[in-house]
Amino acid sequence: MILVAGSANIDFITRVAHIPVPGETVLGQTYLTAAGGKGANQAVAAARAGAPVEFLGALGADHFAELIRDSLRLSGVGLRTMVSDQPTGAAFISVSDQGENAITVSPGANTTLQAKQLGALGAYRYLVLQLEIPLEVVQYYAQSAKAQGVTVILNASPAQPLAPELLAAVDILVVNQGELAQYSGKSEGLEQQLRQMQARGPQTITVTLGAQGSLTLSGHEYLETPAFAVPVVDTTGAGDTFVGVLAALLDEGASLPEALHHASAGAAIACTRVGAQPSMPTRAEIEALVAGR
Ligand code: RIB
Repeated sequence: MILVAGSANIDFITRVAHIPVPGETVLGQTYLTAAGGKGANQAVAAARAGAPVEFLGALGADHFAELIRDSLRLSGVGLRTMVSDQPTGAAFISVSDQGENAITVSPGANTTLQAKQLGALGAYRYLVLQLEIPLEVVQYYAQSAKAQGVTVILNASPAQPLAPELLAAVDILVVNQGELAQYSGKSEGLEQQLRQMQARGPQTITVTLGAQGSLTLSGHEYLETPAFAVPVVDTTGAGDTFVGVLAALLDEGASLPEALHHASAGAAIACTRVGAQPSMPTRAEIEALVAGR
């Protein structure tokens, strides 16, 4: 069983010809409202990939919270959601015609998740975390999990300075290329950057590389996982799908290369559809892509 602890947002998604630069106004198309937030997204991705999953997060007392709960429930995620006095988190997402995105998050209720809400972790094999809830809470959760023998997966996104104690409690770190460069400072080259991060705690580190797939350092071994070539419509939620599917496959006992291969397929499918949670594939869809159908 997997526990995903993190953010839940309501996403307002607008398609634009290009992402606006500072000071620019761009006219977009009709906006779409959908459930999002890195934490909730990763829980949905893992559940649709077939894993038993619970989500721990904080939502406002508003109608957006209901929409998010419905999306989680319909995907088979067990709910451990708190009701906050802050509004449900919101994300304002522009998606360009090239499929790139720019996201502004107003975290609201996500800032009110607390250390005491974690509880005992006896039921879980994996704890999946991201960085859209308070950093001290992420660190407390990671350290509690580590102390209880639960494997900790951290998607260290969005990038921010991380305490050594947090990284020391992480088993598997997943970042994108920009995040890896920020975390590893002046190190040059992906392999050196991965080694630099490994020296700070996590024994397995994956850097996702978009259309180039991903590179993983696990122990002393490097694993290259190719991407699946797909027509890209919207990359929003692709990284979350990767993390959720990776956790799901590892939880069911798959090898790391197999889990990475499925995560790559899941992320590719998410890129072919609009939105975060609406774009996430079922296990059958992932298996079909892996099998080349
Ligand atoms: O990773 C994509 C997610 O980032 C979106 O769903 C948005 O809510 C932000 O949290």
